[in-house]
Amino acid sequence: EQEEEEEEEEEKEEDTNNTTDSSSEDDDEEEEGDPVEAADVRSAEEEKAVEAVQDKAPEKMLTKELCNKRKPQPAVFIPVDRLPEIQAARLKLPVLGEEQVIMEAVRENMCVVLCGETGSGKTTQIPQFLYEAGYASGDGIIGITEPRRVAAVSMSQRVAMEMNMSTRVVSYQIRYEGNVTSDTKIKFMTDGVLLKEIQKDFLLQKYRVIIIDEAHERSVYTDILIGLLSRIVPLRNKKGRPMKLLIMSATLRVEDFTENKKLFPRPLPVIKVDARQFPVTVHFNRRTPTDDYVGEAFRKICKIHRMLPPGGILVFLTGQAEVHSMCRRLRRAFPFRSNRTGLESDPKDTEEERKWFKKAKQKKMLSLPRINLDNYSTLPVDEGDEDRQAGIGDEEDGSDLDLELGDDPGDEEEKCDPMLPLYVLPLYSLLAPEQQGKVFRPPPAGTRLCVVATNVAETSLTIPGIKYVVDCGRVKKRFYDRVTGVSSFRVTWTSQASANQRAGRAGRTEPGHCYRLYSSAVFSDFQEFSEAEITRRPVDDLVLQMKDLNIEKVVNFPFPTPPSMEALVAAEHLLVSLGALEEPPRVRSAKDMERVRLSCPITPLGRAMAAFPVAPRYAKMLAMGKQQGCLPYVITLVAAMTVREIFEETDRPAASEEENAKMAQRRARLGQMRRLWAGQGASLLLGDLMVMLGAVGACEYAGCTPKFCQENGLRYKAMLEIRQLRGQLTTAVNAVDPEARLYLDAKMAPPTESQVLCLQQIVLAGLGDHLARRVQVEELLDPKWHNGYKTPLLDSPVFIHPNSVLFKTLPDYVVYQEVLETSKMYMRGVSAVQEEWIPQILPRYCHFGPPLEDPPPRFCPDSGRVKCHCKSTFFRVGWPLPAVERD
Ligand code: CDP
Ligand code: MG
Repeated sequence: EQEEEEEEEEEKEEDTNNTTDSSSEDDDEEEEGDPVEAADVRSAEEEKAVEAVQDKAPEKMLTKELCNKRKPQPAVFIPVDRLPEIQAARLKLPVLGEEQVIMEAVRENMCVVLCGETGSGKTTQIPQFLYEAGYASGDGIIGITEPRRVAAVSMSQRVAMEMNMSTRVVSYQIRYEGNVTSDTKIKFMTDGVLLKEIQKDFLLQKYRVIIIDEAHERSVYTDILIGLLSRIVPLRNKKGRPMKLLIMSATLRVEDFTENKKLFPRPLPVIKVDARQFPVTVHFNRRTPTDDYVGEAFRKICKIHRMLPPGGILVFLTGQAEVHSMCRRLRRAFPFRSNRTGLESDPKDTEEERKWFKKAKQKKMLSLPRINLDNYSTLPVDEGDEDRQAGIGDEEDGSDLDLELGDDPGDEEEKCDPMLPLYVLPLYSLLAPEQQGKVFRPPPAGTRLCVVATNVAETSLTIPGIKYVVDCGRVKKRFYDRVTGVSSFRVTWTSQASANQRAGRAGRTEPGHCYRLYSSAVFSDFQEFSEAEITRRPVDDLVLQMKDLNIEKVVNFPFPTPPSMEALVAAEHLLVSLGALEEPPRVRSAKDMERVRLSCPITPLGRAMAAFPVAPRYAKMLAMGKQQGCLPYVITLVAAMTVREIFEETDRPAASEEENAKMAQRRARLGQMRRLWAGQGASLLLGDLMVMLGAVGACEYAGCTPKFCQENGLRYKAMLEIRQLRGQLTTAVNAVDPEARLYLDAKMAPPTESQVLCLQQIVLAGLGDHLARRVQVEELLDPKWHNGYKTPLLDSPVFIHPNSVLFKTLPDYVVYQEVLETSKMYMRGVSAVQEEWIPQILPRYCHFGPPLEDPPPRFCPDSGRVKCHCKSTFFRVGWPLPAVERD
C-alpha cells in the first residue's frame, strides 16, 4: 500500500511538473510538432537524453529530481493463472529459455531487437513476459503491431486463451473492428492502426511498451513506425514517462534498424533466440524449372502422399486462383468427404464410394510403412559436394527410388492411388476468417492434412503438424511504375530468405522435408532478401500522413530504407495537384527548386483528407462529398474502391470443357446483373462506380446474405468489409465535420439523377490525375490505338476492360481508379466525365487560353493538360454545378 501511495505521489509530481513547467512548454510543442527537425537540431539536453538511451541506462534519462525520488524498484511479478497443459506447452518454446535474458535487456535498454525463428514463441510469449513483469500494471498498456490483420486477430485470441483471460483484457484493433475496452492490458493491432494513433497522440502516452512484430517483413507502415518510434522513445524519456520499444524479427537481417545511425545513433542490442528447429532435408529439383509449377507441385504432392509416412503437407503457390485450382485437383484425386470421421463408410455412400473406402482402409494398413524417410537423405552424394552433405542436395527426380510417377502428367489424376484421404485446405489472406481458422485445428482422424497456401504461411502463422513442404519458389508481387502508378501483378522468383523460411515450416514438430521445384543453381541466383515494400510502391498516402504529423521535409525522415527520390517527388506532386499540399512558390534557381520542391506544407483540405483512413485520392472525394446529400454515396463508393476485388473472379481458366461452359453462362448472367446495376442515362455514365454502388445497395437491401452474394457474383467477405468501412468512414466524416451529423443507413435509396451528376464530379475531383481522353480520329491510323485512351503519363494507350459497363459506350473523357496491366493496359473502375467540368474541377491540370470562338476543351498530349477557354466553358454547363473545389 505504501508503495502504491508513493507511486501515486510520484505520478502527481510528474503531472504537476508537466503542467507547471510552462516556460518550456512551447519548446516541447515544437519538438513534438516536427520530431525530425527536432532530432536533427538537438539541444544539448536532448543529445544527452539520446545518449543515455544508448548507454543502456534509462534512469539517466530522468530529470535529477525524479532520479532522486526514485528508489530501486522491487522485481515485479504479476501472476498469471494458466491451465496446466498450456503451461506445459509453453515450456517447450525456445523463447521461454531466454526469458531472463530478454527481460533484463528490456529493463536496461530503451530499444531492443529480438530475432528468432518463426514458431519460437515471440508473438505469443513476449507480451506475456512483459505482462508478468508489470509493464501493464498501472496506467500503461502493452501494444503489439502486426503487418497482417489475420495475425493481429488470431494472436490476440491465442494469447488471451493462453493467459486464461478475457478478450476484454487481451484485445485487438484492426482497421474495421476491434474488441479493445478500458480494461485492455495487451493490445494487438495492425501497424496502420498505431500510425493513426500517433497522429492523435504523438507521445503514445497510453503505452508502456510497444512491440513491433514481424519487422523482417519490412511493410511500409512498420518501417515508418520504427522511424517515428526512434524519436518518440527518447522524447518519452525526457518527459519522465519512459517507454520501451521491442523490435521482433524472424530473420537475422536487422542491420537496417540496428546499424542505421540516422535511426539510432548507437547500435541496438540484438538478442537471438535459437529455435528448436528439427533438421529439414532440402531436396532440389534436377530438371530445368518449367512454367507449369502448379502441375509440378501437384505431382510432388501425389508422390509424397502416396509414398511417405504420415505428416502434414504445406504447399506454397502464388495466388488465390492457383490455390483454388490446386485444391480442386487434389480433392478430385484424393476424394474426402468432410462429413466423414475417419474411414467409416456412410449409409449414403454410393456403391462405388463404398468400394473406394474399403480399398483405402486396406491400403492404409498395407502400404504406409513402405518407404522410409531416410531413403531421401541417403541419396548418392558426389564427393566434395558440400551442399549435398549438408543435406542440401539436388533431388534426382528421375531416380529417387520408386517415387517416379511416369512422364505423362495428363494421366496423373487417374493414377493416384490413395491410401488415406487427403484433407485439403486453402489458405490465403482474402479467405474468410473461419475458413482460415481450420488450418490450426487437427485434421479429422485418419486423414492427412494438406494446406495449399500463398506466402501468408511463410512467417506470421505457424500451422501445426507440417512435415513436408513443397515450394514452387515463386511469389506474386504487385509492381508499380513509380511515375505513372500503373500496377501489375507479376509472378517472380522469391528470395533466398523466403525460400528458407518456407523450408523451415517443415521442421516444427519433427524432422521434415522440403521439396523445392527448382534447382540449386536457380536458388543461388535468387536475391538474398526481398526488398523493403517502401522501395516498391507509390508513397502518396505516407507522405500525406507524415505531413499531417508536421513532418514537412519527408526527405529527411529516418526511414530504415528510404523510398526513392522519384517516388517522393511523384507523391508530393500528386498531393499538390489534389490540393492537399500548398503549391510550391515559384523559384528561379535550380538550387531553390530543390529546397522548396519537397517541403510543401499541408493545407486545411490536406488535414481533412489525412483524417480519413483511405488513399489520398479517395480521401479527397470524402472531403468533397458534402454536396447535394451525396456523402452517403461517396462513402459507399470509397469503401467499395478501397476494399479490393468486390466481384468474384470469373475470368480464371477453367479446368474442363464442362466447367468452361458453366463459367461462360455465369459470366453472361453476372454481366447482365452489372448492366442492371449501372442503370441508364446519367447513372450509366458513372460507369463501373455506379455498378459498385448498385451492387452494395442491392446487397444491403437483400440483407447482405452469403446466398445473395453467391448468386450475384459478389464476394461475401468484401461486402461485410464494405459495410464495416462505411460505418468507420461515417464516424470519420462526423469527426472531421460535426455538422454533417451523418447517420449510417445501410439501406440507401438509389441516388437521384442530379446526385449522380454530382457524384461524377466528385469522382473527377479525386481521380483528376487519372483522366483519360479517347483517341482522336487521326491517332486511329495506328491500329494499336483502336478504342484506346490517352493519358497524361503514359505513352501507350489504355483501354476499357470488356467487363466494364462502359466498354461499348466509349465516352470521350473518363477517369479511372487504376490501370492494371494484364494482356493489355486496362483501366479499372472507369467513370465518364463531361469535358466541360474539367477546367472547373481540375484547374491545376488546365491551360486557360485567350477567348476564342467557343472551342471545346482540348487535351494537349505534350503537356498532359487540358486546353480550354474558361469563359465559354462556364456557359456551356447546362446543369447547376455544385461548388466542387472552386478557388
Ligand atoms: O512469433 P513466433 O513465430 O516466434 O511464434 P508464435 O506465433 O508465438 O508461436 C509459438 C507457438 O505457438 C508455435 O509453435 C505455434 O504452433 C503455437 N501456436 C498455436 O498453436 N496456435 C496459435 N493460434 C498460435 C500459435
Ligand atoms: Mg510471430
